[in-house]
Amino acid sequence: MQQCLRICGKQKTQGSIRINGAKNSAVAVLPAALLTEKTVKVENLPSITDIYRLTDILSVLGAKVSILSETSLGLDLSGVDSFCPPPGLVNQLRASYYLMGSLLGRFGRVDIPMPGGCDLGPRPIDQHIKGFSALGADVELEHGVMKLQARKLKGAHIYLDIVSVGATINIMLAAVLAEGKTIIENVAKEPEIVDVANFLNAMGARVRGAGTDVIRIQGVKELGSAEHIVIPDRIEAGTFMIAAAATGGEVLVKDVIPKHLDAVIAKLKEVGVGLDIGLDWVLVKESGPGCLLSSDVKTFPYPGFPTDLQPHMMVLLTRSQGTSLITENVFERRFRHIDELKKMGARIKLEGRSAMIEGGHELTGANLQAMDLRGGASFVIAALISEGETLIQGVEHIDRGYEKIEDRFASLGVRIERIGGI
Ligand code: EPZ
Repeated sequence: MQQCLRICGKQKTQGSIRINGAKNSAVAVLPAALLTEKTVKVENLPSITDIYRLTDILSVLGAKVSILSETSLGLDLSGVDSFCPPPGLVNQLRASYYLMGSLLGRFGRVDIPMPGGCDLGPRPIDQHIKGFSALGADVELEHGVMKLQARKLKGAHIYLDIVSVGATINIMLAAVLAEGKTIIENVAKEPEIVDVANFLNAMGARVRGAGTDVIRIQGVKELGSAEHIVIPDRIEAGTFMIAAAATGGEVLVKDVIPKHLDAVIAKLKEVGVGLDIGLDWVLVKESGPGCLLSSDVKTFPYPGFPTDLQPHMMVLLTRSQGTSLITENVFERRFRHIDELKKMGARIKLEGRSAMIEGGHELTGANLQAMDLRGGASFVIAALISEGETLIQGVEHIDRGYEKIEDRFASLGVRIERIGGI
């Protein structure tokens, strides 16, 4: 039965919140563990459905998973004996594509269905395949199942045609046990990529340059044990910062790496939000109605403004005085949230990859359908600032990347109810 969130409008987020581990690092770190035959411990994992699904997949492949606490797992990978992850589970999350790189690296073979995931427009994996082929893998697609096989993976010089987080990480996973040296150029520089590289190196890999345009990997024979603490989730942090700015409340966001939020902090300051920045915290100061300014936002790969906070920024800009422009440069069609926001009275005009937002008009509560993770989270913010009640269906999309979102917002003083399907 589909669940939904019931939210009354005109609520302010107030107080402080500790940020969880980064989903987009954790969903790569767990598959990366398959590259060792020893044991690893991973801490600061977010409690979200993508992580639960991935641990189910690891267990089916033969890993022994021990729950050490609510946010940490012990994994014994010595018993992993399959390179065919269960299709029923793989189809539930896009990040299952990381199983390609890790199982190819471990077994020289992997059979896996094409990845599922959010509908943000076409989400090809041609660059992933380009990297695997360059490393010596034969790639076939049969009845929707990718079959990759390599007698021996050999290092290669790979130039990515497009900056891709997934391809960067996936090729890195396949290369750490390959024979010889791999150079990957035009890579993505997201903090999550650096986090995965640090985990691989903790297990004994030799990865250099993560976070820059070029990653160099010297293949090693085998990996060992390691302990890893996942970095904080900059997108979850940005979600609560933008919620505070939009609702006009004062919120202290703790256990973050402010550097990872540079583009978000700069843009919030530009629209008139007061912020104090500490070593591992950001304080969003209380702001009165009508003080937000319009702005132009362009999403780009890191360190540009993150595409994953584009929907949230769009909601914020409905409160700004004047007209703003958001240009989505990463995904072809990451604008499905616009039609839902229009049901609330948002004045947004889409032209190609740019959306024009006419700010300063009150939103009113409506029945909304979440269709992807971040769009769904932006509807929570829209519901909090609008007049009247909002129902958000498709909560399962939000649960993929936000831990118990109603409890997280409740800890900031706002009431959100999760009710059974309607
Ligand atoms: C990762 O997706 C994240 N997901 C996304 O977060 C994030 O929005 C995205 O990176 C960009 O930062 C995970 O980490 C699990 P890409 P990914 O490959 O790897 C094109 C969230 O909400 N492309 O960097 O799929 C692609 O179509 C999710 O947490 C190719 O053309 O993104 C897109 O236009 C949503 N060929 C662009 O590159 C390829 O082989 C960037 O995609 C790969 C990608």
